[in-house]
Amino acid sequence: MRKDTMFLVQTHLFLGVASALVIHSMPWKVACPHQCICQIKPWYSPQSVYREAPTVDCNDLLLTQLPSSLPPETHTLRLQSNLISALDQSELQGLANLTELDLSQNSFSNTRHLRISSIPVLLSLHMEENQLHHLPDSAFTGLPGLQELYLNHNRLKNISPGAFKGLENLLRLHLNSNRLVGIDRRWFHALPRLEVLMIGGNPVDVIQDLNFKPLGSLRSLVLAGMGLRELSERALEGLHSLESISFYDNHLTTVPKEALQKLPGLKFLDLNKNPIQLVRQGDFRNMMHLKELGLNNMEELVSIEHSAMENLPELTKLEITNNPRLSYIHPQAFQHLSSMESLMLNSNALSALHRETIHSLPSLQEISLHTNPIRCDCLIRWVGAEAEKPVRFIEPQSTFCSEPPELKARKVKEVSFREMADSCLPLIAPGTFPPFKQVRQGEHLALHCRALAEPEPSIYWVTPKGLRLSTSSSYGPYQVLTEGTLEIFGITAEEAGFYTCVAQNLVGADTQSVTVQVDGVDKGQVSSTWQGKDKLEVKDVRERYAILAWPANYNVPSARLSWLTNESLADHHKHSARILAGTQGFNLTRLQPGTHYRVCLHLGPNDTSCVHLRTKEIAVTVATPDLTPAVLLAASALLFLLAAKACQGGTSLGWKRQGGEDPLKPQACSLPAEVKGHVALVCPQQQQQSQMHQAQMQQQTETQCPTKESSDSSSTENSDAQHPQNVQGRPAESC
Ligand SMILES: *[C@@H]1O[C@H](CO)[C@@H](O)[C@H](O)[C@H]1NC(C)=O
Ligand SMILES: *[C@@H]1O[C@H](CO)[C@@H](O)[C@H](O)[C@H]1NC(C)=O
Ligand SMILES: *[C@@H]1O[C@H](CO)[C@@H](O)[C@H](O)[C@H]1NC(C)=O
Ligand SMILES: *[C@@H]1O[C@H](CO)[C@@H](O)[C@H](O)[C@H]1NC(C)=O
Repeated sequence: MRKDTMFLVQTHLFLGVASALVIHSMPWKVACPHQCICQIKPWYSPQSVYREAPTVDCNDLLLTQLPSSLPPETHTLRLQSNLISALDQSELQGLANLTELDLSQNSFSNTRHLRISSIPVLLSLHMEENQLHHLPDSAFTGLPGLQELYLNHNRLKNISPGAFKGLENLLRLHLNSNRLVGIDRRWFHALPRLEVLMIGGNPVDVIQDLNFKPLGSLRSLVLAGMGLRELSERALEGLHSLESISFYDNHLTTVPKEALQKLPGLKFLDLNKNPIQLVRQGDFRNMMHLKELGLNNMEELVSIEHSAMENLPELTKLEITNNPRLSYIHPQAFQHLSSMESLMLNSNALSALHRETIHSLPSLQEISLHTNPIRCDCLIRWVGAEAEKPVRFIEPQSTFCSEPPELKARKVKEVSFREMADSCLPLIAPGTFPPFKQVRQGEHLALHCRALAEPEPSIYWVTPKGLRLSTSSSYGPYQVLTEGTLEIFGITAEEAGFYTCVAQNLVGADTQSVTVQVDGVDKGQVSSTWQGKDKLEVKDVRERYAILAWPANYNVPSARLSWLTNESLADHHKHSARILAGTQGFNLTRLQPGTHYRVCLHLGPNDTSCVHLRTKEIAVTVATPDLTPAVLLAASALLFLLAAKACQGGTSLGWKRQGGEDPLKPQACSLPAEVKGHVALVCPQQQQQSQMHQAQMQQQTETQCPTKESSDSSSTENSDAQHPQNVQGRPAESC
């Protein structure tokens, strides 16, 4: 049985029932019918007018008809849980003040058995949990004063257009949990004053345009637990007075933003438990009176995008909780929410909340972040910053760091500002897309890849054929949206295979891959071998660096480059660097001048290509390495963060993955607990070298594919600003 109380809570929010005021029953000295209880009880009218009501309670007595000789003063008559299937006006004779009649949980199968000709003062009729299956025209006659009608939990399959004729004073109608398959606008013509309509829990999957048009006085509408998949633009038109609407537990996959725009007075909106994946830009915009919004219990929700909520000047409370896959809230997701006081984000998959998000909410007073896999690094640093305006943490005692390992299980509030790094690696949340996806030919597939980091990372995707697609670009059936979603339209077996998302910033990179199977075809990870010309090539050799290039005609998520000199005694270690998916070139730096090197690219266990090169002899003047203090400082931070990756192996350059999947690199080393200036890494020397190369790898060449590139300007500017020495002499493109 559905939890009706849940819906009621919301109704009461604005109807202002003084439920806190508890007044106890008083004795009522009257000749009471056998087995019934007669008392004076507190009573509220549907409009919250309080009365002391003479009440006769005959619940649970196996009655098949009304008791005789009811006291004439009876105001409330309760006959709940009996076996009554018919009632006659004569049985209520003399009850001039009968205001509430409760016939719930009885055996009525037809309203024609409710033979009431006139009870003008009756305000409230309870017929819930009977066996009504049909309401004929004028089903409730003789009740011109009725304000509340409860018909929930019956078997109503159809209701005649004129069923509610004669109920022009009705304020509340409860039709939830029946078997209605449609909503007929004509029902409502007879109900001009209706304020509350509960019609959830019916298998209605479509709301017709203008379905509620006659209900200009309606204040609360509950459409919970229906099969709603979408809502047309005009579905809610005419509900000028609506303040509260619930779509709890439907099948909506997107926010019905056009329909919601037709509700000028909306204050409370419940979209909980719908399979919405993304809250997109403009989904909640210019809703001038919205006060509370709920986006809870969404299994599919992964991301709250840029400007998802914009210009909601009265929004005070936002609840986005219990969404097991929600890992990303864009730093600028909230715009112009000047009244927002309470932000509930607990029990999601959030690793961080950007300080910009907090700064964009000038009235914020409290925040709830507990039960999230919080990464205590630069992104959550604002929590400990002293200059920060005081925001109250809800349940600070259970708001823990889950990363990095040194801070694990510490309370976020208790980790000092200084203990957290001021820049951090991108981290793609593990749950954003699955490692394996099965689709049918012709389908549309959307894979969402999001990463938060400082500086803001850029995201690209690599297709099974090695094609690199940056954000805001499209190629063939592919499109990559600004925030990192890869869309494949009309998928065919051609597109089956291994896809990798890469998120990178100056500090490092994270990758995550998915195998897409189309109609059972799974090309998996292609393991081709080098053929003819598809080889590692030396594009340029200088004194201290060499540019290498190779074609990428398939996606290799775990490629590695290694190099070794056979000449210098001072440097006889084998160096190696991990190559990000979709990369086709590498600047091998810090080489010894006039030295012979052997460089190999490893794409798989049996898939290695090597070249020999000799660096140029040094020119007349002795070059000193260009290491200014600033460069050193930056480099040490890079080293620290990249070391985490190198030490642990795996597909990530972050610290999140434990245990390596790169058998060639099982090094282990421990991380320093603090990041302050220069870091002493407890790693073998050669590793530091290779990590430096990893850092440089970030600047590597991009495949200029025939794509409509209008790449994300902010991130491009960002990386250019930080990389004055831009990559020149890019290797030849091949797509
Ligand atoms: C009905 O209520 C009115 C007003 O409260 C009261 O004066 C009258 O006596 C009541 N009638 C009966 C039969 O109790
Ligand atoms: C290093 O290797 C290259 C290529 O195999 C070879 O020509 C060269 O003589 C070697 N140098 C030394 C010092 O062994
Ligand atoms: C690599 O080559 C060896 C020896 O030829 C072979 O046994 C092994 O199966 C190959 N591995 C892969 C992944 O192709
Ligand atoms: C390779 O790296 C060196 C040293 O950092 C740099 O001077 C050079 O410009 C780089 N070359 C390219 C093509 O990026």
